[in-house]
Amino acid sequence: MTETKDYTLIDGRKVSIDIKAEISAKVAERKKLNKKVPHLAIILVGDDGASQTYVDYKVKACKEVGFHYTMMRFADTISEEKLMKHIDHVNNDEDVDGFIVQLPLPAHISVEKITEKIRSDKDVDGFTNHNFGSIISKNPLLLPATPFGIMELLRRYNIETQGKNCVIVGASRLVGAPLSMMLVQQGHATVTICHKYTVDLKSITQQADILVVAVGKPGLITADMVKEGAAVIDVGTTRVEGPQFKNGYSLKGDVEFKDVSPKCSFITPVPGGVGPMTIASLLLNTLKAAENLNP
Ligand code: GUN
Repeated sequence: MTETKDYTLIDGRKVSIDIKAEISAKVAERKKLNKKVPHLAIILVGDDGASQTYVDYKVKACKEVGFHYTMMRFADTISEEKLMKHIDHVNNDEDVDGFIVQLPLPAHISVEKITEKIRSDKDVDGFTNHNFGSIISKNPLLLPATPFGIMELLRRYNIETQGKNCVIVGASRLVGAPLSMMLVQQGHATVTICHKYTVDLKSITQQADILVVAVGKPGLITADMVKEGAAVIDVGTTRVEGPQFKNGYSLKGDVEFKDVSPKCSFITPVPGGVGPMTIASLLLNTLKAAENLNP
């Protein structure tokens, strides 16, 4: 007989519903006091299917909490210069409290240039160097949405980070790099970041009390790579296509959930783990930006 262990499923969907209820109450309060309703603008370039899906979720979330929103779509042939002009326009639009440029962008457009063009006090993705750097400040500004969401999951599930060995697989600017700083600064953890040049990944992941994986390679993390009792956070969401799936595709995480979960104390599912928290964090940042710009 195979032994099964109890683990707690980290329900990001449920936590995000709780956060959205908290935000809705704050929006209602603002309305009652005749204060401005937060307004999020979303810039989408091109017609990448996954980006469209994420943007649809963001619009739905705005509607749920009572935010105003504006969708701005551009063809993938738009020049960098024209896109910069649009960003300037939104930067100066007093009605917009926060905005995002959905990534990825077409190859001829520099993500760095576009990101840095966004006014930092409206940068509700927390991608600008100014906001990114504020992670190590006593008064963080608008924090990157996905790592912020992960920290919130760890907090709400009482997962101790202080003094723990945290291993992050994936050193991206969107997730791994900022999360490492948050885990050190706010979580007082000992952090190791692994990436594609890491030698003997398994020997490092096996040391993790908290293992965060944000690579985008389905099934990268197998049971032999995980320590007994670890908390595992799976940020991977890759569309795997196949005729057996209802929409023609299924979302897969980086962790072999079925084999890994019995070894874990806590684990996030995909979908329904980190994904909804990214959107909840985006809403929290938009509310914060609106409160700062229009107190
Ligand atoms: N593409 C994938 N994740 C994100 C995100 O959090 N924000 C933006 N703007 N683009 C993304």
